[in-house]
Amino acid sequence: MKTPSPSAQRRKAPLLSAAFGCALTLSAGALAQAQPDAPSTIATRPSNAQLASPAIERKVDALLKKMTLREKIGQLMQYNDAGCSAPTTADGDNPAMAANPTAQCVDAMKLAADGGMGSMLNVVGAARTDKFQRAAVEKSRLHIPLLFGADVIHGYRTIYPVPLGLAASWNPKLVTDLSRMAASEATTGGVRWFYSPMVDISRDARWGRSVEGAGEDPYLGAAMARAYIHGYQGDDLSKPDHVAASVKHFAAYGAAEAGREYNTTDMSDIRLRQVYLPPYKAAIEAGSATVMSAFNALNGVPATANPYLLTDILRKEWGFDGFVVSDYTSIMELTHHGIALTPAEATKKAIDAGTDVDMMSHYYDTQLPKLLKEHKVSMATIDEAVRRVLRVKFALGLFKHPYARGTEVTHAVPAHRPLVRKAAEESFVLLKNDKVGAKPVLPLSSDVRTIALIGPLADDANQMTGAWGGAYRKSDVITVRQALAARMKKNGGTLLYAKGTDIKGDSTAGFAAARQAAEKADVVVMALGESGDMSGEAGSRAHLDLPGKQQQLLESMVATGKPVVLLVFSGRPLVLDWAARHVPAIMETWFPGVEAGHAIANVLFGDVSPSGKLPMSFPRAVGQEPLYYNQFPTGRPPGKADLSKPPQGDTRFISRYIDVPNSALFPFGWGLTYSHFAYSGVHVSRSKLPLAQANRPGAKNLVTATATVKNTGSRTATDVAQLYVRNLGASVEQPVRSLKGFRRVTLKPGESRTITFELGFPELSFWNIHSKQVVEATHYTVWVGDSSLANKEASFIVTP
Ligand code: BGC
Repeated sequence: MKTPSPSAQRRKAPLLSAAFGCALTLSAGALAQAQPDAPSTIATRPSNAQLASPAIERKVDALLKKMTLREKIGQLMQYNDAGCSAPTTADGDNPAMAANPTAQCVDAMKLAADGGMGSMLNVVGAARTDKFQRAAVEKSRLHIPLLFGADVIHGYRTIYPVPLGLAASWNPKLVTDLSRMAASEATTGGVRWFYSPMVDISRDARWGRSVEGAGEDPYLGAAMARAYIHGYQGDDLSKPDHVAASVKHFAAYGAAEAGREYNTTDMSDIRLRQVYLPPYKAAIEAGSATVMSAFNALNGVPATANPYLLTDILRKEWGFDGFVVSDYTSIMELTHHGIALTPAEATKKAIDAGTDVDMMSHYYDTQLPKLLKEHKVSMATIDEAVRRVLRVKFALGLFKHPYARGTEVTHAVPAHRPLVRKAAEESFVLLKNDKVGAKPVLPLSSDVRTIALIGPLADDANQMTGAWGGAYRKSDVITVRQALAARMKKNGGTLLYAKGTDIKGDSTAGFAAARQAAEKADVVVMALGESGDMSGEAGSRAHLDLPGKQQQLLESMVATGKPVVLLVFSGRPLVLDWAARHVPAIMETWFPGVEAGHAIANVLFGDVSPSGKLPMSFPRAVGQEPLYYNQFPTGRPPGKADLSKPPQGDTRFISRYIDVPNSALFPFGWGLTYSHFAYSGVHVSRSKLPLAQANRPGAKNLVTATATVKNTGSRTATDVAQLYVRNLGASVEQPVRSLKGFRRVTLKPGESRTITFELGFPELSFWNIHSKQVVEATHYTVWVGDSSLANKEASFIVTP
């Protein structure tokens, strides 16, 4: 297992849980928040029927009656095995530290044994989890098992593509299968709870955590959110190879201003509900057993102390019946936010708002007894939080099966590799594939005898697993170099390799060797991009170009005149404007996981046609961020103006930049394959839909949209058919188009298929100014095609 540098400890190798340090408190005044009108729907059903089971409730009641206050609070405490939290501010010398209980470390083993802790995070390996579990089950008075949670974000040992890459597959079934697989591995290490999925919508590529989610679109994000939950939890939490999910980070963390990590977010209730909440809601409806609160403040109220989010929306509207865990020290951070002057105040605000479990703040255990004594927090509030935790523990069957199950998985599992390879292949997005001579550069022709593989990401196993590598082993990762070398050997060809430069840094010392290799080759394959730790938590960037000297390396390779294939490894959209103009073939490969090399070789050589589509818009310049396809209209739309030319006359006073077009370089939904697809015959099943019929939350399949898709090329390939909708004439302006359906379609050359999309209330409705989800009597345009640029349309109206 990899040993990270101290500064990268928590993020790159989170499951090592070796982090420690202490955090500090600041103080300031409190903030209030005006909330909109009452919600449009009040949930009548619990979100997870298993958690609502009367049999579980009886067990919870019986246990609760036996518990002392300390044991109750213990269930609300979560620590790692080091028992100390990592620093969350650089101001470590501040005297406020002295008053901060988090400055003290705890003895996690002792707490496990005496009922002072209910769950643990990122403890890796059956030996370690079982050791703590034995202490809890055998030594503590009530024998309540611990719940082990971990950041299994895209695999435990057999690491698959980062979530943004998985989103590019537009294949929820694949995501469910992978999640299932990860659960089956991690449970052999004693982990029964994943801090996943991260479903934060991210429309700003500067935000490093874009890599952890499904990108910019709420519809795609919701589909992916459901897929993860179904995979992790299955239909029954109590199966020993199933895990409880923790959908995170609730809510709107992805809207951090300027893409700066942990920064504030501020938005209308309409935007919150229409753009940011749908994936969380989908996860809750799919039964997510837990939720993690976010670090950010939303409209001035930090999410961890936000009753509007944690109680009104989550519990009252959506019927959530699991528990909420804070993010890492986010209860303590309420003092940094300036809404709590003391640890006691932070504790009260967090628990009253609906944060049930304290992850690493060391506040609930130190503050709640006194708050209770002073009648500032009620016993009913504490009991309710404990109840929620115990429900999940009983539902997971932890009392019956507290220990790691079966034979421990300690390496990538050979039988899991084919699925992981398929996932990687489906995640790649072919951005550009121009002809050089008579044929497109990709797939590589059989005439290619010598390949020059150049770049710092060609043979760096540690980078292939991205920002959250689970508990991966470096030796399990197949690099591009390894896979291409094996291929070329088999083909009787030659692979030349030169690193060229580092990912970051200023050295050009390797350029000459790279040039020599390129000059001897038929084609140059370049593996460039970011290191895994340049995205993920605390990975915000203000520049989105190729870091270090990689751009110069790329330019010097293009200058050789050899055809260049650029593989881009990144946890976010990068600015690839120069490459888009000068490099004939570009493929975004994200961070593909342990099968990186094999998957890339399969696609480069054409064994597999790429089928990925962008889940986030790739900008032309950083200044366009946040950039997303489903923008709102303006009063001065650019219309047909040529925005690539400087403004003059009637192209000036319109919504535009004077120095770059508004559009994305590669838009949402974009992705090429080795064949071609044509869309035709887009039509809708009716031209008029009565409002009374449409405006019902349960209404399904009100309008059916149909289109024909044909493979007009010469290879079997897969396209992702996408349906977009625009709604004109509503009381609140609506995006210029919004994704409302998608389907992967595999066709043989010349084959065509008619595909249908059903539009019901969820697809046609929007949020009005009273925070109500409604359909109004308006005009709808529907497009079907292969990206957000789809231009074949049909329309209908909703009549009053
Ligand atoms: C991250 C979470 C993660 C948690 C536990 C936090 O810093 O924001 O996403 O689950 O740490 O490791």
